[in-house]
Amino acid sequence: MKFENITIVVAMEAEARPVIEELKLKEDLSYCPGMPMRGWIGQYRGIKLSLVINGKDPETNLDLIGTQAATLATDYAIKHYSPQLIVNMGTAGAFGENGSQIGDVYLSRDYVVFHDRRVPITGWDKQSIGYFKVWDAEELALKENFKTGIVTTSNSLDMPPIDEENIRNLGGEIKEMEAAAVAWVARLHSTPLFCVKAVTDLVDSGIPTEEEFRKNLNLATSNLKDAIVKVLNYLAD
Ligand code: ADE
Repeated sequence: MKFENITIVVAMEAEARPVIEELKLKEDLSYCPGMPMRGWIGQYRGIKLSLVINGKDPETNLDLIGTQAATLATDYAIKHYSPQLIVNMGTAGAFGENGSQIGDVYLSRDYVVFHDRRVPITGWDKQSIGYFKVWDAEELALKENFKTGIVTTSNSLDMPPIDEENIRNLGGEIKEMEAAAVAWVARLHSTPLFCVKAVTDLVDSGIPTEEEFRKNLNLATSNLKDAIVKVLNYLAD
């Protein structure tokens, strides 16, 4: 499948940097002026590429993470770059009991959901979870040997028992903090989307997630960069 205009949506600068450097992207100061979000642009094998990040919180000077910033970044990116496809890239937790390993790269499968929205009222229950359909990346996953999984989102790094129960009920395999928000905005704009997520931590390992996340961030972001090059080669053909 040939795509000519793709936007990569990422939360943290550390997740984006290896890709920006590998693809020699240049900062685009006309993206989201006056807001923390930042954008880079470039070309790769005939694809017009843009990459956006959430940017830094002006109060703490730390990377903005989570769904609110991702919503703004995605909406502005779609209006500014009019992509044919959005790739939401980032790091995530996964379950060791599913055979996941630190550093694995997963592509999203079927749909993206929110796992922390509990609204037991008919209609709003499903709306809250989202079930945002993702672009079918099965052929790409088979070709490049990526694992695939249902991606599930909340605004928390931890996994209290109620979230774990919801993730299990939803068949969630990849736990992160932005995808469902990005997918919601993409759906509002009728823009196809899929996710590329590298595993920094195993949520069932018993080791504190923040410890595993910090320890494995470099490995995961390096694997993400290699994965994105394979993804773009596939999408360019
Ligand atoms: N990002 C990386 N690991 C994560 C986890 N376990 N939960 C949410 N977001 C993450």
